[in-house]
Amino acid sequence: MCGIIGRVGTENAIDSLLTGLENLEYRGYDSAGVAIQNGSGIKVQKRSGKVADLKAAIDRDIADGQVGIGHTRWSTHGPPTDANAHPHTDSTSDVAVVHNGIIENYLELKQELANLGHEFTSETDTEVIPHLIQHYLDTGVDNETAFRKALGDLEGSYAVAVMISGEHVLYAARQGSPLVVGIESDAYFIASDVPAFLEYTDNVVYLEDGDVAVIRPDGLEFTDLAGNAVDRSFETVDWDPEQAGKGEYDHYMLKEIYEQPTALSQAIEGRVDPRTDTIELESFPPGTFEGIDSVQLVACGTSYHAALYGSLLLNRSGIESHALLANEYSVCAPPVDENTLVIAVTQSGETADTLGALRTAKANGAQTVTITNVVGSTAARVSEKTLLIRAGPEIGVAATKTFSSQAVMLTLLGQRAIADRTGEPSLDLETFLPALRSLPGQIETVLGSTHAKTVAQQYHDSTAYFFIGRGSGFPVALEGALKFKEITYEHAEGFASGELKHGPLALVTPETPVFAIFTGVEDEKTLKNAEEAHTRGAPLVVVAPADHPAAAVADAHLEIPDTHPELAGLLANVQLQLVSYHAAHSLERPIDKPRNLAKSVTVE
Ligand code: F6R
Repeated sequence: MCGIIGRVGTENAIDSLLTGLENLEYRGYDSAGVAIQNGSGIKVQKRSGKVADLKAAIDRDIADGQVGIGHTRWSTHGPPTDANAHPHTDSTSDVAVVHNGIIENYLELKQELANLGHEFTSETDTEVIPHLIQHYLDTGVDNETAFRKALGDLEGSYAVAVMISGEHVLYAARQGSPLVVGIESDAYFIASDVPAFLEYTDNVVYLEDGDVAVIRPDGLEFTDLAGNAVDRSFETVDWDPEQAGKGEYDHYMLKEIYEQPTALSQAIEGRVDPRTDTIELESFPPGTFEGIDSVQLVACGTSYHAALYGSLLLNRSGIESHALLANEYSVCAPPVDENTLVIAVTQSGETADTLGALRTAKANGAQTVTITNVVGSTAARVSEKTLLIRAGPEIGVAATKTFSSQAVMLTLLGQRAIADRTGEPSLDLETFLPALRSLPGQIETVLGSTHAKTVAQQYHDSTAYFFIGRGSGFPVALEGALKFKEITYEHAEGFASGELKHGPLALVTPETPVFAIFTGVEDEKTLKNAEEAHTRGAPLVVVAPADHPAAAVADAHLEIPDTHPELAGLLANVQLQLVSYHAAHSLERPIDKPRNLAKSVTVE
C-alpha cells in the first residue's frame, strides 16, 4: 500500500530519499513527503499529488541533513490532502513519523491525547504516533524508551520509521506490515520494500513482526519490543536495479509483459529435469500430496485468477480443490484439518486479506504453503513452506508476469499431485513438459507478431468489453476483464462461456465486443456461446490458434501458437494483456499507476 523510505549515513539523505520514493510510488501515489533532520531541527515537506510534485517543490535550502524519512501514500484514513500526507509530527515538530498499516485504536488514543492538550492537524490514524512519543518524552524518559512505550500503546498493524530531533538515529518497528533494512558501506536504509534502495545496496535484513530496529550512522541493533536482542541475518537479494527500472519501455507494465518469457524460464529452471522428465519442486517433494484430502487456494484479484487456474488442474489430478477469495475466507472458511493443504497465492506476500486467510487456515490446523514472488515476505514467513515464482520485481500496479508465473507453478503442482496420487506421472506429462519448455518461446512469438494494438484501436469507442472462456479459459477471461477495467477505466466483465446465456447475454449489443478464448477444451461449445453473442450484434474477437474454426466467423483474430490445453490460456492471456495495454495507452491513462489502486494492499 504506502511506501516508506528512511536513510541515515554520512552524506545528505535527500537525494536517496527522493529516489526511494520514486521507486516506491507503485505502492501508493496520492501524496508524498519527506522529513530531514539537520542542525536546526526537523524539516518536513509534503504534499498531495505525485512524488514528481514533491520533488519539484523541495526547498533545497532546508534539505541538508544526513538522516531523513520519506513516504508515498495510498489513503486509508482521510483523503489525499497536504495535511494528511506523511511524515506526521507532534505539535513541537520534534518527532517525525512515517507509517504503513492501520492503528485500530487511534480514535481512543487521539481523544486521550487531546484531553492532555495535544492538537491534531490531520485526519490520519498515524498522527497519534508522534504525539504519543512526545507525550512520553515529556515524562522525562529517553528517546528510545519513549518510542517503545508509544509502540506498546498501539493496536493494529504498523511499519513505522521515526526521527527525533537532536540525534542522528532512525527508530523503526514492524508489526504486520513489511519493513526491510538495507546496508550500504556508509549508510543504512529502512524501507517498506527492497526496490526502494536497490540502486544503493542489495544487502538486506528483513524485520520480523515485533522487531524494533535502532539505526545509527555507525551501526544498528535489533530487539523485541521489550528490548531483548534478536538475531536477524543479512541476505543478498538477487534483483538488480536494471531489472527494477523501465529500460526502453514507456511503461513498466509493457516491460513486464515483455519479460514473461524470461520470468517463465526462471520459474521453470531447475524444476523440470530434462534428462528424466520429472518435476522437482523444492517445497513439494514426491509424496507431498499422498496424505492430502483437499486443497484450498486463497488469493485476491489477479492472484485469485491464477488460483482458479490452478484449482482446475488440481481437480483434474483427483484432489478436491477450491480457489477461494481470501477476503471472504474469514466469514465462510470451509472446514480444514491436518490433511487439508491451504495454498496462499500472492505476488507480494503482503496482501492483508490473503494473510488473514492463511492465518485462519493455520490456526484451524491446515498445512500451509505460500506461492509468492517476494523472498522474506510476510506470507512466506507465516506459512510452513514457500514456493517462489522467481518473476523478478513487478512494479506496474497491474499484475502481468506474476500471473503467468503463478499459473505455471500451479500447473507443475497439478502434475506433482497426479504423480503422488496415482504413483506414476500423468499420462500427458509427455506432451505437457515439452509444451512447458516451449512456452517462453511461444510467448516471444505472440509478442513479436501480435495485432493487439489494431484490435484495441478497432474497438476503442465501445461501451463495454466482455471476455468469455471455458475451463482454464475461464480464469483467463476473468483476468482479461480485470486487466482491461483496471487500466482503461472502461466497463469490462469476464464470464464462463456457458454462463453468457444465463443472463449476461442481455448486455450484448453491437457496441460490446466479446473476446472469446479457445484453449482446446470443448472449443465447439465455446464457439456456440460466442456465436450466440455474435448473432445478436456483438463484434467477436477470438483468441485461438491460426487455423481454428472460430477464426472463420470472427471479426478479429488474435493468434496463439498450438500448445497443451493447460498452457493455452497463458498464451491467450498475453494477447489480452496487450489489448488492455494498448487500449489504455490510446486513452492516455496512467497505466502503471491506475487511479485509486495500489500494488500491495495491506489493509482488509
Ligand atoms: C490486479 C492486481 C491485484 C492483485 C491483488 C493481490 O492487476 O495486481 O488484483 O493481484 O491485489 O495481490 P497479491 O498477489 O500481491 O496478493
